[in-house]
Amino acid sequence: MDIDVQVYPHTLALAHAFAEATATALREALDGEPRATLCLTGGSTPEPAYKLLADADLPWDRIHVFWTDERMVPPDHEQSNYAMAKRALLDPAGIPESNIHRMDGTLHPKEAAEDYESVLHQFFGEDPVAFDVLHLGMGSDAHVASLFPGGPELEEYDRWTVPSRAPAGTEIRPRLSLSFLALNTARLALVIAAGEKKGEAFAEVVEAYESETIAPPPIVRVRPAGDLVWMIDRALADAAS
Ligand code: 6PG
Repeated sequence: MDIDVQVYPHTLALAHAFAEATATALREALDGEPRATLCLTGGSTPEPAYKLLADADLPWDRIHVFWTDERMVPPDHEQSNYAMAKRALLDPAGIPESNIHRMDGTLHPKEAAEDYESVLHQFFGEDPVAFDVLHLGMGSDAHVASLFPGGPELEEYDRWTVPSRAPAGTEIRPRLSLSFLALNTARLALVIAAGEKKGEAFAEVVEAYESETIAPPPIVRVRPAGDLVWMIDRALADAAS
C-alpha cells in the first residue's frame, strides 16, 4: 500500500500544516452541509496544532468534536485528552458545549464504552459513525488511539468503542478507545507524529505498509474509507530511514 507522507522541517511547521489541513477539510465538509465532525486525538504532539486550529476562521457552531480515546481520569486531570483539547482548542475557539462530545473518564471503562457508544448513536442515528476529519497520533510502540499492540481491543469490530489497558509503565493504564470499526469509516484521517524516538516505530509502519505484513502494527490497521495522510517532522523521517 502506498502511503501519503508529508515531511515538515520542524514541529512548528508540522503544527501549522496539520491545523491548515484540518481547517481546509472541515470547510470542504461544511460545503452544502449543516454540520461537520472532527475527531480529536490525544497525547502531547497535537497540542501546538490545536492552538493554531483555534485561530482558524471556521464556523465552530457547525462543527461537532469527538475523541479517539481517553484516559480514565477526570476531565480536569493533567493526563486527560479532553483537558488538553479544552485548553488548546475548545475554549480558545469558543466551541459550543452542545458540540463537544467527550468521553467520560470518570466511569468504569466498560461503562464508559457503553456510554460513548450511546453518545455516538445519539449523534449519528441509524447511520454508521463516520467522521469528516479524524485525527490520529502514533505511540512509540505504533499504537493508535488506545489500541495497543497485542491487546484484545484490536479485535473489536462489532462495537464502535472498546475499553483497553495501556502497557505496564504507562502513567494511566485504564483507557477507552474507538475501535477500528469506528476509525475506518473516516472520510479523511490525518496522522500527526514527530520526534526521533518514534523512528523505529515509523520504520516498522512503513515496512508493514510496503510488505502488507499479516500482523501489522495497530496504526497500520487504520484503513479509512477516505484519504489517509501522514504528517511528520524531519527528525522522525530521518530516524526512520
Ligand atoms: C493517547 C493518544 C495516543 C497518542 C499517542 C502519541 O491518549 O495517548 O490518543 O494514541 O496519539 O500515544 O502520544 P504523544 O503525542 O504524546 O507522543
